[in-house]
Amino acid sequence: MARRLLPLALAFLLGLSLAQDGKALYEQYCAACHGAEGQGIPGAIPPLAGNPRVADEAYVVKVVREGLSGPLEVNGVVYNGVMPPMPQVAEADARAIAQYLKSLSGASAQPPAPAPQVQGDPALGRALYLGQKALQNGGAPCQACHTVAGVGFLGGGSLGRDLTDAAKRLGGEAGLRAVLQNPAFLVMREVYKDKPLTEEEAAALAAFLVQVSQEAPRPASLYLGRFLVAGLVLLGLLLLYQAILWQLRPKSLAERIRSQLRR
Ligand code: HEC
Ligand code: HEC
Repeated sequence: MARRLLPLALAFLLGLSLAQDGKALYEQYCAACHGAEGQGIPGAIPPLAGNPRVADEAYVVKVVREGLSGPLEVNGVVYNGVMPPMPQVAEADARAIAQYLKSLSGASAQPPAPAPQVQGDPALGRALYLGQKALQNGGAPCQACHTVAGVGFLGGGSLGRDLTDAAKRLGGEAGLRAVLQNPAFLVMREVYKDKPLTEEEAAALAAFLVQVSQEAPRPASLYLGRFLVAGLVLLGLLLLYQAILWQLRPKSLAERIRSQLRR
């Protein structure tokens, strides 16, 4: 009897430990966006708890590994965001997460508690973005790698993508906050791993990016114009320099004789 129960018990324990791992992995990789209880953010990030599609393990693994975008509907609410692909989550880990999610589905799906949120200050966000105000934990300013139309003199870095429409792509202010506090993008994950943004900073940056996305798009030619102005100023300085050199040039012999004769 005991011998027959043993494999069952082991299988049960294995399943349990998988689900435990799944929980830890979920908290590491997914909770920032989908919420601690898988409740999602209405209208921005779909819930995973109580989501019928999430019962399909293969589907969850595919979404995690390949990302997902485009409109989808969960429990009558429409979502149209972008989940970045997360190849850093191993397939086995994704499966463990999927199993954990199944244990969430259904009963535990409560309506999302209205989390008390810090009000984001777009002006602060702008200063943080540009590096005019240092990030509290010493992270690099966003502008080092990103551009946002019309902000900063010559744009910004080009390692990351242009963030002008990031708010539209990533589920508005709420989605952005989540992304910034737990970036899913490899480079940013590394850069901010030991220097996370504070809640206030994430909120401010999100508010700033939402504001930017609502402004009329500025053409790239704006930067070209500024570039030309910068070029002309530089040229002017060079000419001035030349003129000064010309004034200070050593006098020629003939001139020296002439000025001696004049005396
Ligand atoms: C950067 C934020 C973010 C992170 C991190 C994230 N997701 Fe998502 N996820 C989204 C968004 C946004 C969508 C909706 C995409 C759409 O509208 O097409 C989504 C959709 C999904 C879906 C499809 C839901 C459906 O109804 O079809 C699944 C499944 C999913 N995510 C699982 C996960 C898992 C598992 C993790 C962790 C490994 C994770 N997500 C991490 C933002 C995120
Ligand atoms: C070291 C370079 C680097 C720094 C610094 C950096 N990022 Fe990123 N960021 C990236 C890369 C690389 C990606 C992912 C690939 C891409 O979207 O180009 C990314 C992606 C993003 C995305 C998702 C873009 C999208 O629409 O899919 C957002 C939003 C973002 N970063 C915001 C920020 C903010 C806000 C800051 C400042 C707190 C910041 N980043 C600082 C490199 C950086």
